[in-house]
Amino acid sequence: MAEQKLIIEGGRRLEGEIAVQGAKNSVLPLLAAAVLCKGTAVLHNCPRLSDADAALRILNCLDCKCSREMSTVTVNAERMTSNEVSTQLMREMRSSIFFLGAILGRTGYCKWSMPGGCELGPRPIDLHLGALMKMGVDIKEEHGFMHCTTPKGIHGAKISLAFPSVGATENIILAAVTAKGETEIHNAAREPEIVDLSNFLNKCGARIKGAGSGAIVIEGVKELTGAEHSVIPDRIVTATYMCCAGITRGELVLSKTSYRDMSAVFPIFEQMGCSVYTYGEDCIYINARKSMKAPGKIITHVHPGFPTDAQPLFMAMTATLPGTTVFVENIFENRFRHASELNRLGARIGAEGRVAFVEGVGHLSGAEVEATDLRGGAALVTAGLAAEGVTRIGKIFHIDRGYENIEDVLRSVGASIKRN
Ligand code: EPZ
Repeated sequence: MAEQKLIIEGGRRLEGEIAVQGAKNSVLPLLAAAVLCKGTAVLHNCPRLSDADAALRILNCLDCKCSREMSTVTVNAERMTSNEVSTQLMREMRSSIFFLGAILGRTGYCKWSMPGGCELGPRPIDLHLGALMKMGVDIKEEHGFMHCTTPKGIHGAKISLAFPSVGATENIILAAVTAKGETEIHNAAREPEIVDLSNFLNKCGARIKGAGSGAIVIEGVKELTGAEHSVIPDRIVTATYMCCAGITRGELVLSKTSYRDMSAVFPIFEQMGCSVYTYGEDCIYINARKSMKAPGKIITHVHPGFPTDAQPLFMAMTATLPGTTVFVENIFENRFRHASELNRLGARIGAEGRVAFVEGVGHLSGAEVEATDLRGGAALVTAGLAAEGVTRIGKIFHIDRGYENIEDVLRSVGASIKRN
């Protein structure tokens, strides 16, 4: 089958309303958590994404019964027998590593393939493994696999993370909820997706306190039931569509979202000259009609700081703002790969290590480009919406990992975009 591309005719202002999808980075750990449930987990607001499908394939591989009805996914792990996941499945999605904690919590054994790197750099898992070993997990690395056993069962431990890793925090929680005794996580990641995971697990009978803060305490319980839960909205997808409004000087309402977790992003939109209002429980209004200017600097931090996942989108948006914007990427060591593709669209970006300089240009012009990773691909879509002429984006499988029906969503608010 010929490679799919997104074809965008730029220059059209976005106007209208977008209902934001459920959060990819919440639904993935929630699906892993379902492995621990001796009952049925019903998850609403699950976006249709290739990463979510990959997680469901892993659950099927573990003999969990999964079904999807529109945006509701049901998982029953009652009769889960296998604890082996095929290498191909494990390697398909690097972030599936938190299935390790869930499978160990449920069965006490897991053979997991050493994760490959990914487009953002080596992505080590030393913090995950160090913590699991403190909890009684023996890990033997052999022929590219980690053979994880728990000879004396998983027990609670006091864990201080050298870096507040999101995935490591989630893995520890998943291993700790049915462990013997109490687990403390210090310097835990504070991302909203961790709060969502904790809320779901507590509905299933877990005893987790402090999620969202840097100190999380989990008291192990004997077993977990199932529960019904709604996945939180995707704050990065929200920021993406806000950047699409900004770069086309349009105005959008984003509904079914949550602005509470976006406090580091709003001030940047306002510094650039956008009007941003929040109203009701879950709506954001952005108007970018006014003249805009470069925000000066954007520095990524762990939550609640400016999210690294929004960095590529803002880099696209600042490409046509008068002035210079300095980006400092503190989370990943190789997260500027989209810069060279944006330069093919006429942007003027210099990137060196963890720092990039964007010098605003009068306009972008359409070209053939390729997505380098999930958010880098979304950045090319954002830029293509404003570029004069036609932009054709290849390797859009990266984008489909995290954006549900991106072309239908953007077309619904006035973009000229199609998938061939
Ligand atoms: C999660 O990745 C997200 N993925 C990422 O979103 C997000 O960018 C990242 O958190 C940071 O917010 C999911 O939730 C599925 P980390 P994760 O562990 O857990 C280093 C997207 O676009 N590190 O917080 O892998 C690591 O190398 C994706 O949706 C270690 O050194 O992120 C990186 O530099 C991209 N050792 C930093 O920490 C470890 O054991 C942040 O990684 C683990 C991580």
